[in-house]
Amino acid sequence: MDKKELINSGKVKSVYNSTDDDKVIIEFRDDMTAGDGARKEVMTNKGAYNAIISAKIFKVLEENGIETQFIDLLEPNVMLAKKLEMIPIEVIVRNIATGSLVRKYPIDEGTRLEPPIVQMDFKDDEYHDPMLNDSLIKALGIATQEEIDILTEKALEINESLVKFFADAGIILVDFKVEFGKDAEGNILLGDEISPDGCRLWDSETLDMLDKELFRKGKDNEVMDAYVEVYNRIIPDSEKVI
Ligand code: C5P
Repeated sequence: MDKKELINSGKVKSVYNSTDDDKVIIEFRDDMTAGDGARKEVMTNKGAYNAIISAKIFKVLEENGIETQFIDLLEPNVMLAKKLEMIPIEVIVRNIATGSLVRKYPIDEGTRLEPPIVQMDFKDDEYHDPMLNDSLIKALGIATQEEIDILTEKALEINESLVKFFADAGIILVDFKVEFGKDAEGNILLGDEISPDGCRLWDSETLDMLDKELFRKGKDNEVMDAYVEVYNRIIPDSEKVI
């Protein structure tokens, strides 16, 4: 499988066509960004840690019946994936109130959210990812009601699997963001990545942060140790490639 032309260069990943038309090659770069890309640093091996963590999580989800775009890790930071037409929605699931939720709404930090909140934001940097609702999504022509329902159902299933998966590693899954896309047959699959870049992960005992929030708070020298901690806890020694 060989890399062909670049089709999308995002803030932290580059997506290439491959010699196989229905597959893409996703390169996870070592960039870390915050504030809509306003701040950017390079962190050694960050791409590889995120790709390996993401691959592991996608495999766990596949075992739980959730179809993903993941096919294989070609190199520690390079993933082979099914080609999808991505849906420009960031589906956010929240189990504990923090972040933008407590900034924008009268709800106390740390409140347990039962049932979890499912929120959909428009993935568009120019408009700063505004929150959507069903009628906005339909008016903008982003998805149908049936598709919105599928996204919601899949996001909640992913949450249920991952809350358990992380709990076994002594980690609380506070909230996370996922993205979906359609394959050539129109099936909706989980795409993009699930890594400490797009999740809030807290140590179950100490409640220490183990994710990109450290970088958002300017703790640049602590953030990679947190990613490596997540890697060490969820990747068995036999699967460690870095
Ligand atoms: O900032 P906020 O509280 O809305 O973030 C909720 C969750 O979604 C967090 O886990 C964050 O990492 C993730 N997120 C993301 N990309 C964005 C916005 C939020 O991965 N553009």
